[in-house]
Amino acid sequence: TRRVIVDTDTAGDDTQGLLLAALSDRVSLEGVTICAGNVPFEYQVENAKYTLDLAGVADEVPVYEGARSPLLTDHEFAEYIHGEGGLGGDLFPDTGIPSADEHAVDYIVRTARENPGEITLVCIAPLTNVALALQREPDLPELLDDVWIMGGAVNTLGNVTPAAEYNFWVDPDAARLVMSELEATLVDWGVTVRDSLFGPDVFEEVEAMDTPLADFFLTVTDAVREFNAQSEHDALGADVTTQPDSLTVATLLEPDLIEESGTYYVEVDDREGPTRGYSLVDELGVTDGEPRTRVVESVDEERFERLMLDMLRHGDP
Ligand code: BDR
Ligand code: CA
Repeated sequence: TRRVIVDTDTAGDDTQGLLLAALSDRVSLEGVTICAGNVPFEYQVENAKYTLDLAGVADEVPVYEGARSPLLTDHEFAEYIHGEGGLGGDLFPDTGIPSADEHAVDYIVRTARENPGEITLVCIAPLTNVALALQREPDLPELLDDVWIMGGAVNTLGNVTPAAEYNFWVDPDAARLVMSELEATLVDWGVTVRDSLFGPDVFEEVEAMDTPLADFFLTVTDAVREFNAQSEHDALGADVTTQPDSLTVATLLEPDLIEESGTYYVEVDDREGPTRGYSLVDELGVTDGEPRTRVVESVDEERFERLMLDMLRHGDP
């Protein structure tokens, strides 16, 4: 079993990714680190604790608080997608569970140093914590076993601007650094929209389950469904969920879900302006950049759906 740290800006789909990591016996979730992102920091911290509690692992999996703002740019939240507190709108957890004493960046660096080649980092938030960890420990790439990242919009429309996806756009400086230094598997916005949407038939099935996890799924996806229904994106504009973060964790749990992928040089645009956060992927192999990012290009949609539904029904992905 892989030993995993999940870095998250815990809102709707982050919670589902966390649940997958917490409930699967294919990985051992060792710690959760929180990074500035979707909604105000304290909400994200509480949302993570609430999610771990729901999975029954709050006693074993500590939550480490990390960067409270991007490296250099002004912070922009995504409450308009996830609801004010990040969990759909009406749910504002207050678990009373304390956070770990250590800063998230210190925790990542220490754990990687103490367990060389053992730790897989799963990044489903802006990459600020990871960039800071890299600056602190330049050998981080060698110390980690593997890295999985949700971010970027590869040859496709972004979700914040035409060029960019939220995680890369919010902290483009961190994303640029991380993508240039770490070998990673990348699940981008494009494959998310192509291969992981759930629509009304799935929602009906989930409603009928009547389990705490199913109810939680419906709560946290409520705002996103409304947002997507209004979207101008061709593949959206309907009652569907987008689940980038759970898709990312799912491909880690079951690599066979990945149908197609390619390893390319990826460069993130950190300049202010219309291309901020754009992820250039050198599929033509025409730059000097070293191909080191495995870009997930297509995923088995049905198997992903089954994995999610199994988790919501039985608590076992
Ligand atoms: C990413 O941004 C957040 O809103 C989601 O949780 C996901 O990590 C998608 O662009
Ligand atoms: Ca996220």
